[in-house]
Amino acid sequence: MKVDQAVNLADLKRLARRHAPRAIFDFIEGGADDEIGLATNRLAFERLRFVPRYLVDTSVRSQAASLFGVDYSAPFGIGPTGLNGLYRPGADLSLAAAAYEASIPFVMSNCSVASIEDAVRLAPGVTCFQLYGTRDRSIMMNALHRVADLGVKTLFYTVDVPSHSKRERNFRSGFGIPVRLKPWYFAEALLHPRWIWEYLSSGGIPKMSNMLLPEETARTSALDIARCFAREVTDPSQTWQDLETIRRVWGGKLVVKGVLHPDDARRSVDMGADGLLISNHGARQLDRAPSAIEMLPAIRACIDPKVPLMVDGGVSRGADVIAALCLGASFVFVGRATLYGAVAGRQRGVARAIAILKDEIDRLMVQIGCTSVDQFGPHLLSEAVRSPTV
Ligand SMILES: Cc1cc2nc3c(=O)[nH]c(=O)nc-3n(C[C@H](O)[C@H](O)[C@H](O)COP(=O)(O)O)c2cc1C
Repeated sequence: MKVDQAVNLADLKRLARRHAPRAIFDFIEGGADDEIGLATNRLAFERLRFVPRYLVDTSVRSQAASLFGVDYSAPFGIGPTGLNGLYRPGADLSLAAAAYEASIPFVMSNCSVASIEDAVRLAPGVTCFQLYGTRDRSIMMNALHRVADLGVKTLFYTVDVPSHSKRERNFRSGFGIPVRLKPWYFAEALLHPRWIWEYLSSGGIPKMSNMLLPEETARTSALDIARCFAREVTDPSQTWQDLETIRRVWGGKLVVKGVLHPDDARRSVDMGADGLLISNHGARQLDRAPSAIEMLPAIRACIDPKVPLMVDGGVSRGADVIAALCLGASFVFVGRATLYGAVAGRQRGVARAIAILKDEIDRLMVQIGCTSVDQFGPHLLSEAVRSPTV
């Protein structure tokens, strides 16, 4: 099967699994500990039911949505995932280019392989930046100034990585810094010759281009930058004071990514966050965290309606995007869905993932009698219909 023939996102995931060696695929797919969180994220969506409304003229409809005053063609965007260029060379830019083509937001991770300069060049207007706090605060401050100078308008500050989680698939596969080679790697190499060839012909271990400033990146080896990343991120000493500093330094829109508790949500907004990305980091950090979808109604209830709330985690159908919007999200982000597309088929694979999601959203809009995203609401979900006072 080719990426263009993928019928759903699960097909793209299968193609990605076929292309990449097991250690790589497992790193992308895996969650922490028992991977309860992966199931939690899916179940939160799967238990929701739409109650359709019929005899509504839906012949003209649009899923266009805006975020921080920017109009996009759909109510979802590509969330930050680090190290993309390791999974397939050029994957960061495949994601950026496909997002630009499709007119949806792209959030570049500060541990991506490609540089934020290249992403902005390729995907102007839709590229945002995600920042991890670093032990050495000057590293994060340098990144902030660099990104602001490029004209990037929106920063996502990730707060849900206070320590390295226990991702057991990586322990078993030896994926880490440095990689601990296992005997079965050689069999995997034989099964994935194209991946190996692309990896070697693009220079082997890829360099993370956003951790250090461009001039430092040029004179530092890929392995030393990876070590720097491992040393600097995570930082258990990050506090609200760091958010305060970031708010003071960053003049653009600021989104706090990874909040789950309503009090943290309220405090972030009180401290000047312009939006929140409610998230459990794709179940990669705290395995027994609730899903973003579970926490969304409680957070929506205590935050000014004008503040956009975004969610991510487990999105694998257009119906998931609509369900999140019905529960009060303004925008939805995907991580693995488009990344599988990038691994399976570069920009074309990402474009296919986006097209699949858009098509599923469009079909569901007709099914439930909606012509625009502002018509989504809890009134379309069975629980609210059955007990309207809830
Ligand atoms: C391979 C991978 C790498 C990730 N890297 C980052 C990162 O660098 N920064 C960050 O804030 N979140 C990162 N995340 C979390 C995503 O931004 C997002 O919260 C999560 O993937 C959403 O869940 P989903 O993959 O089920 O859509 C990563 C997720 C994956 C799968």
